[in-house]
Parts: sequence; structure tokens; C-alpha cells
Amino acid sequence: MNVLGIESSCDETGVALVTTQDSGTPRLRAHALHSQVQMHEAYGGVVPELASRDHIRRVLPLTRQVLDEAGATLAEVDVVAFTRGPGLAGALLVGAGVACALAAALGKPVLGVHHLEGHLLSPFLSADAPQFPFVALLVSGGHTQLMRVDGVGRYALLGETIDDAAGEAFDKSAKLMGLGYPGGPALSRLAEQGRGDAYALPRPLLHSGNLDFSFAGLKTAVLTQHRKLGPAPDATQLADLAASTQAAIVDVLVKKSLAALKATGLQRLVVSGGVGANAELRRQLNAAAQRRGWRVHYPELALCTDNGAMIALAAAMRLQSGAAAAAKTYAFDVRPRWPLDQIDS
Ligand code: KG4
Ligand code: ZN
Repeated sequence: MNVLGIESSCDETGVALVTTQDSGTPRLRAHALHSQVQMHEAYGGVVPELASRDHIRRVLPLTRQVLDEAGATLAEVDVVAFTRGPGLAGALLVGAGVACALAAALGKPVLGVHHLEGHLLSPFLSADAPQFPFVALLVSGGHTQLMRVDGVGRYALLGETIDDAAGEAFDKSAKLMGLGYPGGPALSRLAEQGRGDAYALPRPLLHSGNLDFSFAGLKTAVLTQHRKLGPAPDATQLADLAASTQAAIVDVLVKKSLAALKATGLQRLVVSGGVGANAELRRQLNAAAQRRGWRVHYPELALCTDNGAMIALAAAMRLQSGAAAAAKTYAFDVRPRWPLDQIDS
């Protein structure tokens, strides 16, 4: 079975083709991505209307490119999958509309996929694929959640952020430090030259006794510290502040992930979403896991941030496991807000 996947929930247009195999994880045949980062850079963040319009321009050329690279034709596509939510409503509607129109023209079924399920299952495309059950740390621009994952579609929320997401904490801190958008990669690059213990920044909810997160206070503390540095901080001060910010975020993510493993008795952690690309987070999680004999799995670096491969994969795994069925129903809707533990609602 060949599944074409279309991702358009935010500022990347992603398309991919996967093929299911008799046993094991579906195989990624080809994927293509267009990032809108440059377009939104001038505005310091994603402009939803511009995002939707750009998805319209990109999605069909990317589909053609993926089919060419896979050596496949449209007629060989068995199911068309798309991101149904969560995300920006207008951006989601582009992917959903194109997917349903394409499927209707081909007479093939469609399947709407949960964006976070895509992130969560994306490590199955890596050479070191996980096995169920595991704890998942989902850290993206809009979400920070710990989930217990017992199988495809079997997700139980263990804890989540009560305000900003970890990615947002990176992005907002970077923005107020003048590092531009998207802030996560820029802040972590600068952090490599600084000391993580230079400034004492808060680690909210670290000792809350539950698995929830809070990052809104951190950005205020970064702002206060940045102001204290005066109007023209030197390069070392800025690098130290970046490293201290990253240290605070990573510290909380690592400690809560370990607490989730302890609470569930599981020994496998899967980290996914854009912040999962952070090198310091990976270093610390790997070191902590190694000490305890636990395993940590990540998606390939290129598949950490938004992409079409994870959407095609999630659709294929849902179909294969019987968690979902594709239908020749082309009246579509999108779900800009959609909790992952209510995936079947
Ligand atoms: O999963 P993703 O691509 O999009 C969403 O679904 O939100 O995540 C994007 C987030 C942004 O906040 C970005 O700053 C962050 O992931 N990010 C990083 C890194 N690369 C991306 N944060 C920290 N370190 C990185 N290397
Ligand atoms: Zn995402």
C-alpha cells in the first residue's frame, strides 16, 4: 500500500510517499519539504495568511517532486493522508483541501492525521526504531507533553505545559535577545559559546510533584536579566544568557522525562518535535539514560521538525494496525485544536 502524506499545519509544506511492508515499519520512498522561515523572518514570527497562501503555491510541485523521486505515479497512490490538526486553521485547510481533491480525482480514500501523532511516531523511520510501550516527550513550538504510548492510537497524557511550550520559551527568549526567528536553533547555536550556570534562571514546577511544565515565567526572567545587561551587552554576556536559558529549559525537560519513566516503570523514552533537535537536550537525556540502562530514541534530525514523512508514516501505521480506516469521503474538516489523547473523538 502506497500512502501519500501532506503536512501544512504551520510554516512548512511537507509531502512524502511511504509504502507499507508485510512486517515492520512502512518504508519511506521519498519526501520533500519547503520551509517558509525566510518569508516569515521579516515579521519575527509566522503570519498565518501568508503561510496559507504559500502552502497553496508549494504543495502540488512538491507532490510531483516526491513522486518523481520515488519513481512512482499518481495512479500508484492508494491512500492520500493529510494533517487534520492541530495547527493554523487556514494552513490546515490547504493541505486538507488538496488531499481530498486529489483523492477524489483518483477515486482513492483519504485519511486525516493528528500532527502530534506524526511527531510521536517519526522515530520509527530512524535506524534505531523504538518498540512499544514507551514514554514520549513531545516538544514542539506549540506543545510540551509527556505521554504514555502503548501502541498506535493508544496515548495517555501524563503531563503537559500549563502555559508556554518549550519551543515557545526558546523562540520568545531568542526574540527578546534579538536573535530573530525561529529562535530555537539560533539560541542553541549561541549557547554553545556560553556557560549554562552564568545566570540563575527559574525552573518552574521542577518540584511540583506532577509531570506538568510551565515556561511563561522563564521568558520574563530572561527579559529581566537581559535588561540588567544594559543597552549593549557584549558577546560573552549574550552567549552566557543563551546558555543559561537553554540550561533551564533542558533541565526541566530532562528531570520531568526521567520522572515520567520512573512513574510508569517504563525504560524507553521517545523524544520528538522540533525541540528534540536540540543538542544539549540530547546530550543530557543520553547521559541520564545511560546511567540507568534506559533507552532514548529520536527521529532522524531532518525529521525532528515538521515534515510530510511523519504524516504519511502515521497514516500508514494507523491503517496497518487497524486504529483507523481510510474512507472515500471527501467532505473535509480541520481541527486547529485537538488534544492527542482525544484522537478518536
Ligand atoms: O515541531 P516543530 O517543527 O513545529 C511545531 O509543530 O511547532 O517545532 C518547532 C519548534 C520551534 O519553537 C523551534 O524554535 C524549535 O522547535 N527548535 C529548536 C531547535 N530546532 C527547532 N529548539 C531548540 N533547539 C533546536 N535545535
Ligand atoms: Zn510540529
